[in-house]
Amino acid sequence: MKKVLALVTTLIMAFTLIGCGGNGGSKTKTESKADVAAPNVSNQVKPDSVKTGKILIAYFSKTGNTKSVAQEIQKNVGGDLFEIKTTNTYPEEYQAATEQAKTEKNNKFRPQLATQVADFASYDVIFVGYPIWWGTMPMGVFSFLEQNNFAGKTVIPFCTHGGSGLGDSVSEIKKTLPQANVLSGLAVRGSEAGKAQTEIANWLKNIGMAK
Ligand SMILES: Cc1cc2nc3c(=O)[nH]c(=O)nc-3n(C[C@H](O)[C@H](O)[C@H](O)COP(=O)(O)O)c2cc1C
Repeated sequence: MKKVLALVTTLIMAFTLIGCGGNGGSKTKTESKADVAAPNVSNQVKPDSVKTGKILIAYFSKTGNTKSVAQEIQKNVGGDLFEIKTTNTYPEEYQAATEQAKTEKNNKFRPQLATQVADFASYDVIFVGYPIWWGTMPMGVFSFLEQNNFAGKTVIPFCTHGGSGLGDSVSEIKKTLPQANVLSGLAVRGSEAGKAQTEIANWLKNIGMAK
């Protein structure tokens, strides 16, 4: 009888141990899954992080300054570069260009766009770059903002200028895109555009976009 009891006790202990081992194993697996998933989840919910998502760097540039800043941004954050072009052109000569731009601004003219972003909806973060013309963006940039759906997207303005900084451009962007999250903009003096690597890198770090 004693032997039978001992055998039964041994069998119960053995099953209990196997049972624990099984549960322990699956628990460990679940925990490790959670551990792997944790960093992604925390990235997604981090409120000030705009790093996640697909990046577009859209810019308008007549003489190349803004283009050079756009290219530098791409070097730092990756993403796709896109040049905003209009079907109308501007005179080479500075004075004549300013006259045309002034007339367009006064008439709230919206130039036709010559280029379109492929699959605009797929982008989450959109840098928008432009030279300052008469204290704001060239009218073609307004066309670009008005003709694409920016709802829910993060917009990051940057400009080059001859002395007036961002001017009214950021407030105009906010007014034009009330459903977008518009971050602080960067203003680079046109004459400094080719040597602004440190300024650009620091700005990207400050707004949480540096890699
Ligand atoms: C039509 C026109 C208007 C401009 N208006 C301003 C202005 O209001 N304030 C300013 O600081 N610079 C002004 N500029 C200078 C440009 O913003 C500056 O040269 C810029 O870096 C040019 O950029 P881009 O080479 O990308 O075209 C103007 C330039 C042009 C051609």
